[in-house]
Amino acid sequence: MKPSSALLLGLSLAVTGSAQAAGSAQAAHPDKLAVQDELPVGKAASEHPLPPSWDKLPAGEFGDKVLRGYQYFVDTQSLAPQFVGNALNCINCHMDAGKKENAAPLWAAYMSYPAFRKKNNKINDYQERLQGCFMYSMNGTPPELGDPALVDLSAYAYWLAQGTLTGEDFDPAAMTVPSDEDLLKGGKRDDFPFMQSYMDAGGSKEPALPGRGYPKLDEPEQAPDIARGKAVYEQECSVCHGTNGEGQQVNDRYVFPPLWGPDTYNWGAGMQRVNTAAYFIKRNMPLGQPGKLTDQQAWDVAMYLDTRERPQDPRHHGDLKKTREQYHGGKSYYGTEVEGKVLGSESYPNHPNKPQ
Ligand code: HEC
Ligand code: HEC
Repeated sequence: MKPSSALLLGLSLAVTGSAQAAGSAQAAHPDKLAVQDELPVGKAASEHPLPPSWDKLPAGEFGDKVLRGYQYFVDTQSLAPQFVGNALNCINCHMDAGKKENAAPLWAAYMSYPAFRKKNNKINDYQERLQGCFMYSMNGTPPELGDPALVDLSAYAYWLAQGTLTGEDFDPAAMTVPSDEDLLKGGKRDDFPFMQSYMDAGGSKEPALPGRGYPKLDEPEQAPDIARGKAVYEQECSVCHGTNGEGQQVNDRYVFPPLWGPDTYNWGAGMQRVNTAAYFIKRNMPLGQPGKLTDQQAWDVAMYLDTRERPQDPRHHGDLKKTREQYHGGKSYYGTEVEGKVLGSESYPNHPNKPQ
């Protein structure tokens, strides 16, 4: 089966996007702004494996799954209103279509599940981890386990992982094509079907994966400060993300995603923790100039945006103090008083289909 023309259109959009300079406000889609040529701070390019190029897309049905997964990842809005309750796309936080090291890349993520997560107190396979980002980062209602959208997203991550870890020798025709059920589990398991060529070359089934997640920063010298953060925001961020964090739209599509308010990640998301936001911002923002901010500035501006109202934590059932005690703490300011108001008391709604 050949990929449909709609899929190919999505693909060509992304390819032309790579030629476009980061930061141009003319782009019609955030994906066009995703490519960053700069190397992440303090790391040489050779330390990171390179994701496969599109000419390594496998033929046939599995290739179609990969391509659809890619499309859901860069244009997650195509899954609204069923699953998505805000204006974001996965790619807004997992930069360069989930390929970029130090921006929670999918090739590293895929190889890290199944894994135990404190967040829901159980072992999560890859599809359950995907559900988490739908519920909180996308303020949505996750597709049910086994849903074709989760299969496609897993296929995209599997292909990225196989190609990235195999390197230049990656031959998609020699790749094992797992069953849907297997795909959804993730790659951190003994029976994971890895490329024979990779194993023959001495590859390990438990590869070290530099570039996973958003690398930690040291604690800031001074406690993060909202007023200083606001000044950083106004100087370095508001030109794209708007004075009130509302983002910017062109022809009803967001070209710059919102950071607070009704249309962004909710109070249960990883990004609402000031440390996680600081790590992301330091490595990835301002767009096209990662590393421009000092560590202190990254902490301060993260503090500013993560003390603004956003959609409610979907686990909240009326008692802010309790929700905070149960699920927050650490570097989340949810349920605490900031500038005379308790954060969470004026939150915006969750996706209408949110699970009870
Ligand atoms: C608002 C930002 C944001 C958006 C949008 C978002 N995510 Fe995430 N995602 C995160 C954060 C933060 C983490 C945790 C990373 C960390 O702790 O280092 C994460 C983690 C993940 C992980 C696990 C990474 C790992 O290495 O363990 C996967 C897989 C993932 N997201 C997939 C998705 C998918 C699929 C979508 C779209 C449906 C999506 N995310 C949308 C912020 C986001
Ligand atoms: C040149 C425009 C530009 C500037 C300046 C910029 N950003 Fe972004 N930002 C973007 C774009 C575009 C994305 C989405 C990335 C993608 O889709 O590849 C993004 C994504 C984000 C996200 C994750 C998505 C979300 O909506 O939560 C955060 C957080 C963020 N930026 C914070 C900041 C901060 C803080 C600054 C200032 C230090 C900043 N940005 C400066 C364009 C910009």
